[in-house]
Amino acid sequence: GPPLLPPPGGPGDAAGQALPVESRPFASYGSALHIALPQAPRAGQLLTLLIDYEAGEGPGVCWLSPEQTAGKQKPYMYTQGQAVLNRSFFPCFDTPSVKFTYSATVKVPEGFTAVMSATSWEKQKDNTFVFKMSQPIPSYLIALVVGDIVSADVGPRSRVWAEPCLIEAAKKEYDGVIEEFLVVGEKLFGPYVWGRYDILFMPPSFPFGGMENPCLTFVTPCLLAGDRSLVDVIIHEISHSWFGNLVTNATWGEFWLNEGFTMYAQRRISTEVYGLPYTCLEAATGRALLRQHMDATGEEHPLNKLRVVIEPGLRGVNPDDTYNETPYEKGYCFVSYLAHLVGNQSKFDAFLQAYVNRFKFQSITADDTLGFFLEYFPELKEKGVDSIPGFEFDRWLNTPGWPPYLPDLSPGQQLMRPADELAELWAADGLNMEAIEAVDITGWRTYQLVYFLDQVLQKSPLPEGNVKRLSKMYPKISKAQNAELRLRWCQIVLKNNLESEYSKVKDFLHSQGKQKYTLPLYRAMWGGSEATRALAMETFSATAPQLHVNVQNYVKKILGLGEAE
Ligand code: BES
Ligand code: ZN
Repeated sequence: GPPLLPPPGGPGDAAGQALPVESRPFASYGSALHIALPQAPRAGQLLTLLIDYEAGEGPGVCWLSPEQTAGKQKPYMYTQGQAVLNRSFFPCFDTPSVKFTYSATVKVPEGFTAVMSATSWEKQKDNTFVFKMSQPIPSYLIALVVGDIVSADVGPRSRVWAEPCLIEAAKKEYDGVIEEFLVVGEKLFGPYVWGRYDILFMPPSFPFGGMENPCLTFVTPCLLAGDRSLVDVIIHEISHSWFGNLVTNATWGEFWLNEGFTMYAQRRISTEVYGLPYTCLEAATGRALLRQHMDATGEEHPLNKLRVVIEPGLRGVNPDDTYNETPYEKGYCFVSYLAHLVGNQSKFDAFLQAYVNRFKFQSITADDTLGFFLEYFPELKEKGVDSIPGFEFDRWLNTPGWPPYLPDLSPGQQLMRPADELAELWAADGLNMEAIEAVDITGWRTYQLVYFLDQVLQKSPLPEGNVKRLSKMYPKISKAQNAELRLRWCQIVLKNNLESEYSKVKDFLHSQGKQKYTLPLYRAMWGGSEATRALAMETFSATAPQLHVNVQNYVKKILGLGEAE
């Protein structure tokens, strides 16, 4: 990194004294800034430190060339803090256990706009933007974008931000739908404390579906499906307004406290707005992802527990490497299990609201959560629900593997059964075209098709010729523009060695850089034939410069392109 400069002196205060600073080894993903104070501070004493620094090369700050944007006219920069990347953006206590308010003054070149995850902002003269976050947040939630971006209102406290060429589509996708999610969230979990809820559509290489930066969620442009079908991502990020952003995991080893509770909250909101059958269908696709993940890594993998051991120091796991389906979907199962113990939805909803209220603006551990649960339901504590053989809370947290309890998704059967049956038909040895043609999928919702494709993928490779037929029969699937459908179709193409459609895999990987789409496809290509391995190499060498550096490194690992470790 850049040399560390001693502070030149605080504004006014005690004539600012230059202090010795030193950078010391800390972890593989950052170093520690040591500042020697002239004397040990007293408890409660306020210290003002002025640190003059430059952000250098680092994974937290992404600089995009015009070609990497949708409009291809102007450069773009964004930051992505979670999990431990903001340490390359500004010096900080880069741990979710510390919360603070912030303000920032950002000067940008003519023709650019700056936005941040802040409760208030103001444009001053000279292209200078002033931001203020008045609620305490952890370091990973500070975020900045500078680009050629414009906004449009989509609700009383919401607007969308995007490059000018995408703003129409962005407005159309979410006009008039966001407020309802916020209102339902408030009804279920208590006041929305962040003021605005805006959404920023990122350039195509943004590595996540969504990132819950307070007041301003960042999302992939893949959500612009034209039919609102991927709105579950928005509901998910809104749910973080309570779980994650208000009540925060104190360590990344308990990331499931953020994501498992958020998955549960997302599906509660979805149930209220879209009903139980649809929500169970969506949850079933989540369960399929957990199945795929555990099959790929082995159930006993140490990351397949809710509580992950993150040792400090140079040998410890990088918290960013623990991002997988377990904290999400196994976490969801555990929260569903707690709800099952309570046995009554409104009582459990009331618990969630009390939990948020009890721990808002704090960072907590799973012990705090579970302790509060038992305190809130003394009759359950009395019964010893934390130590029922096979379902011990301790086992949930510390044992890798498939969840011991799965919530009942059978209310989704009415939507899943037709898809299950159709997948059966397509997996058969001589195709029963009459039966297949009798099924009309034109009215199916995106998640029904996703569920169908997951079933087909699970049964793949299908008997010779079937996938080709399927492709012809359903252009709605094989020529889909919807990213969730494209991902599944590409996975099916690869697992069935359908060479005539390999170009679709390449096109999809060229069109976006989301980690959850990119890595499974490279894994499938690398685990396939010589031809798919060649396809992987060719695609990666063309797209690597566009990928987020973390995603680049994960792909290199998959392709054996010798990343250290
Ligand atoms: N906070 C996560 C994204 C994240 C996780 C960034 C870990 C960095 C490290 C976000 O809320 C998320 O979970 N996004 C999902 C949405 C999905 C579960 C609906 C995504 O990006 O796919
Ligand atoms: Zn999340």
